[in-house]
Amino acid sequence: MMKINELDITESFPAFITSKRINADKNELITLIHEHKNFFHDLLLKQGAFVFRNFGINDAADFAEVIEALELGDFVNYIGGDSPRDKVKDKVYTSTEAPPNLHIPLHQELSFMKNHPKHIYFYCEIEPDVGGSTIIGDARQILKAMNSRVTAQFQEKKLTYVSHYYYQSMIMKFVNRLQRSHKSWPEVFETQSKSEVETKCLANEFDWKWLKRDWLEIQQTRPATLTHPLTQENVWFNQAHLYDFNPKLLGLQRYLGAKLFYFRKSTRLHEIMYADKTQIPRKDIYHVLDVLNQNTVSFPWKQGDVMVLDNILSMHGRAPFSGKRRILTALTA
Ligand SMILES: [Fe+2]
Repeated sequence: MMKINELDITESFPAFITSKRINADKNELITLIHEHKNFFHDLLLKQGAFVFRNFGINDAADFAEVIEALELGDFVNYIGGDSPRDKVKDKVYTSTEAPPNLHIPLHQELSFMKNHPKHIYFYCEIEPDVGGSTIIGDARQILKAMNSRVTAQFQEKKLTYVSHYYYQSMIMKFVNRLQRSHKSWPEVFETQSKSEVETKCLANEFDWKWLKRDWLEIQQTRPATLTHPLTQENVWFNQAHLYDFNPKLLGLQRYLGAKLFYFRKSTRLHEIMYADKTQIPRKDIYHVLDVLNQNTVSFPWKQGDVMVLDNILSMHGRAPFSGKRRILTALTA
């Protein structure tokens, strides 16, 4: 039986939790978590992120068991999420299937939604060959590092997110075969039924509009910062930088390619604006991207690692990679 004082816990970001014994196994960890739930909850609020390493967590089922033992919240689906991903089992998904050579900047998962997840979990099934670190950042520090004029504008004007999802488009299927980038609304909402989509839109405070050829436009207006409900700390909490269509985010080649292809605004995946429908200056979006990059911590994976993040206090993203990489993910709220 493992005891809490047999763990080594670093004070780093993320905090690493390992056993002082070499032969500790998953079942011992599960029992320990059950007995010291509050200890792990407090650690998460303090450090923002922690990693269980070397506990023989071997597959998606083990990963789900660790999440359940922590009892931070109930599993939630990726409804409304825009990143292409596959469902592995029940509430465990692959992390993004976005193109490997794309750098995904820091963000909190689904932070553009009213009902955003409170925690995100990652599990390393296959270590990346080259690159492919998950990157993380402290959203408390990031808010402090933002230019106060930019923060004030974002807070005062609020953000309107617009997304366009296709239905049965041959062109979009072809584009996705070349490079998986767009999602259809049945994938986003996990249903083929339009009325079910509308029910889910209402529940999430999305405005929706059915467009030509059954494309769907959804819109929502959200604040740019948030106060953590338990720690009362203020954090940067939005995805304006991921919804803006610009070369700094996409890389020049991808940007120009997409600009030629998605010349119509109605088929562009995302748009971002202030709630009064005025444009956010490009230089302010670039400032946000710069601050995020300056506050990025790289986390190189080891097979079997489970990383737990408070999805309000901590942001995550992904470094580009080549070769094999399989990271699974799950959310709770
Ligand atoms: Fe994400």
